[in-house]
Amino acid sequence: MIEYSLVPRSQQIVKTKVTQSPTIAARFILHGEIVAFPTETVYGLGAHIFNVEAIRKIFVAKGRPADNPLIAHIYDLGQLESITSANPLIAGKLIEQFFPGPLTLVLPKSETVPSIATAGLKTIAVRMPKHRIAQQFLRACKLPVVAPSANLSGRPSPTTWQAVRAELDGRIGCLLKGDQSEVGLESTVVDCTAKIPVVLRAGAVTLEHLQTVIPEIRLVDQKTLTVFKSPGLRHRHYSPIAKVIICSYPQFTIASNDTAFIGLTPPPHSEAFKRILICRDIEEYAHSLYQFFHECDEASVETIFCQSVSKEGLGLALMDRIERASED
Ligand code: TXA
Ligand code: MG
Repeated sequence: MIEYSLVPRSQQIVKTKVTQSPTIAARFILHGEIVAFPTETVYGLGAHIFNVEAIRKIFVAKGRPADNPLIAHIYDLGQLESITSANPLIAGKLIEQFFPGPLTLVLPKSETVPSIATAGLKTIAVRMPKHRIAQQFLRACKLPVVAPSANLSGRPSPTTWQAVRAELDGRIGCLLKGDQSEVGLESTVVDCTAKIPVVLRAGAVTLEHLQTVIPEIRLVDQKTLTVFKSPGLRHRHYSPIAKVIICSYPQFTIASNDTAFIGLTPPPHSEAFKRILICRDIEEYAHSLYQFFHECDEASVETIFCQSVSKEGLGLALMDRIERASED
């Protein structure tokens, strides 16, 4: 397996075009370049699904391990035919209920999809974003676009175009501007190739939502997650430069000029933190988390305290990302 390592910024020679036009951005894809684009979850970094050279550029630009497969983004269900070899009944039900939206389905892959896109797996992950600009962009690209999140490997996903530019300027052909991503966390990933579908990654389409359509669906047991099932989940993810500490009680935080706090209830000595964000609800917490991480890194915060929430609904995805960010 090839390993792609990050090329130092000093050796980057690409001039990144920043645009608001989905048609201009699509032109870069059609010419074999890679393009960062907004979606309702986080920003993606796309390449044409049948262009092996362009896909390789994604791995190089991100310093992404070659064993971490990409998600194919579509704007129309008709596009499924060219990239999948079967559409299990259960997937049909999930598509009907949740596409377009923050849900990714793992399906049997068509032979025509190059193996670099799926890291050699016989399955392919597919998502139809709900975001208006993403849809316009994908339509203009005509064929599906494979895209991971538009961050350097291991870093939190970007939820604003400015966060993409801070990391990828000079490494990618084009950056399509949009608003701050509404959801703020990556999509829910469901493996539909098993007899009983399994949630590989929690997201805004919650386990409870999924169970209304498939009552027996369950969350994957992280300990039994094999390399073959979802390689990406083994890799270090979502980490800001600052150290992340999870706290159940805001009173257990240390307010100082080096620390920050994000959560639902104000901690004591709020005014002494370098950065602080009190969110109205879980949705706002999820929406703001990565942007907060990003701002804390820009401000050279050393420690970020994240208040824990109950692992219900969107709380499951939120705690998954916070726990991963807190791992050493
Ligand atoms: O919301 C999202 O999903 C964003 C936007 C841009 O769509 N994309 C994203 O991509 O988060 P990425 O590459 O950061 O995460 C994709 C996840 C990884 O954990 C990867 O291992 C898993 O999906 N995945 C991709 N293809 C797979 C496959 N064939 N089987 C199992 N897991 C797969
Ligand atoms: Mg990612």
